[in-house]
Amino acid sequence: MHLNLRDKTVVVTGGTKGIGRAIVEGFLDEGSRVYFCCRTGADISAATSSFVTKYPYTFISGSAIDVSKPSDVSAWISRIVEYEKKIDVVVSNVSSISVTNTPEAWETAYGTDMRGTVSLVQAALPHLEASKGSIITISSVSGRDIDFTAPSPYGAFKAALIHYTAQLAHTLAPKSVRANTVSPGNIYVEDGVWGGIEKSNHALFSSQMAKNPMGRMGKPEEIAAAVLFLASERASFISGANLVVDGSLCTGVQF
Ligand SMILES: NC(=O)c1ccc[n+]([C@@H]2O[C@H](COP(=O)([O-])OP(=O)(O)OC[C@H]3O[C@@H](n4cnc5c(N)ncnc54)[C@H](OP(=O)(O)O)[C@@H]3O)[C@@H](O)[C@H]2O)c1
Repeated sequence: MHLNLRDKTVVVTGGTKGIGRAIVEGFLDEGSRVYFCCRTGADISAATSSFVTKYPYTFISGSAIDVSKPSDVSAWISRIVEYEKKIDVVVSNVSSISVTNTPEAWETAYGTDMRGTVSLVQAALPHLEASKGSIITISSVSGRDIDFTAPSPYGAFKAALIHYTAQLAHTLAPKSVRANTVSPGNIYVEDGVWGGIEKSNHALFSSQMAKNPMGRMGKPEEIAAAVLFLASERASFISGANLVVDGSLCTGVQF
């Protein structure tokens, strides 16, 4: 199956680590022109060098911005459009991963997960309407199943993102802009969330690992594959979906 993503202008938030990085690499591998961000300038430089080495014939641009600041996001999108004259795909991947039940954690999760996504979509929307483009939000199985961090902002805002994305799908369908969510299960990256839990709390890691019926956690590239498919014209009639990519971790049946 050809995804035909060559020369598409793609914007991914949080592309230096984990799932976001795999999404960036997936689009680069398809020949897309990719813009990514994170808050740490040194990580942008290191990731860019690595991407350029691995994908020498593609276009990549990283920016140090904080998605919880709407002015950062809108200025970033303006710079991209000034150069590219278009945007075809936006992927809202960043989360604050706020798992404590404190007022500060709720504020942070709202600012980063929710407002960060809304800012990205609002800034990019005129350009997505012009290109008949695609929006993808990254939620989590924690948006539909109550996880071990409850009560906490993480799952609550992940659920809100699924709802917001479905609203976008419905209201933007007449303009041929599609919006879908990808909800990862447990995705293992050594320097990521689960690698950290493995080192700091082995009992918790083992108990969560045991819930995975495939006997393993997922890989970031398994999430990237779902994102790339949904972004492509092969998914031209798929909008408003929440694609759960979890190796059958969730036991609830989604109708
Ligand atoms: N890993 C899992 O098992 C799992 C499971 C379900 C869902 N997810 C979801 O998948 C997404 C990615 O998770 P991950 O595990 O890959 O995360 P990660 O390894 O912690 O990477 C997060 C990326 O986002 C950047 N970032 C964080 N806050 C930012 C901000 N305010 N502004 C700009 N960039 C920011 C980070 O760089 P800086 O820190 O330098 O800014 C980094 O590049 C999240 O939405 C997460 O909820 C993950």
